[in-house]
Amino acid sequence: MLKKFNLFHSILGKFFKNRPYDARTVEISKQEYFIRAIVLDDIKDLLSIEREVYAGELPWTKTAFLMELQAAEPHLYLLIQKDEQTIGFVGCRIFGKDAHITNVAVLTQYQGNGIGSFLIREVQEFARVNDCQTISLEVRISNKNAQRVYRKLGFVSNTIKPAYYSENKEDALEMMLHLKEE
Ligand SMILES: CC(C)(COP(=O)(O)OP(=O)(O)OC[C@H]1O[C@@H](n2cnc3c(N)ncnc32)[C@H](O)[C@@H]1OP(=O)(O)O)[C@@H](O)C(=O)NCCC(=O)NCCS
Repeated sequence: MLKKFNLFHSILGKFFKNRPYDARTVEISKQEYFIRAIVLDDIKDLLSIEREVYAGELPWTKTAFLMELQAAEPHLYLLIQKDEQTIGFVGCRIFGKDAHITNVAVLTQYQGNGIGSFLIREVQEFARVNDCQTISLEVRISNKNAQRVYRKLGFVSNTIKPAYYSENKEDALEMMLHLKEE
């Protein structure tokens, strides 16, 4: 019985692992948004979010997005829209048993409504389906707002990476979420 169940689970697991992300309308803080996987045509919208949220802080370039979206490792890049405007996105790439959040951003006007947390929870689900044990990210030591959001989601601080951000030599705090086994 257990053997059969395990076989069923492993077939089901493979199915979910390879399934494309389900585009759908979601409700966050009583507001409706549309969420879907990012395609190459979305890069210009992502660049404009980057310019808004990371003003003066070395935002990602078009090349950086292209490389991430075409990475060989399993990855998930999602955007969220309100009234057809892209207002936020998240990206992660899997390295072994760790899903690394490479970028997450929400337009200033929409921050503080649970959107960032929602996006990270979607990454969490992707990591779980891909048998990851951890989710990791780096955050600027000065970015207390983002650190608070991550802590609320269960991330803990790990190590400091000295002078991680090249433009001002700012340290990064590495944060990690340990996924529970089911
Ligand atoms: C970090 C970032 C992605 C978080 O996204 P966000 O949408 O603002 O995050 P959330 O709304 O989920 O959480 C932020 C706050 O809103 C609160 N919140 C969560 N759900 C909420 C809800 N339903 N209603 C009201 N507030 C809510 C959270 O509790 C949190 O409150 P706190 O300030 O007391 O901790 C966003 O602030 C951002 O883009 N920052 C600039 C770019 C950046 O720094 N990216 C991270 C680089 S590592």
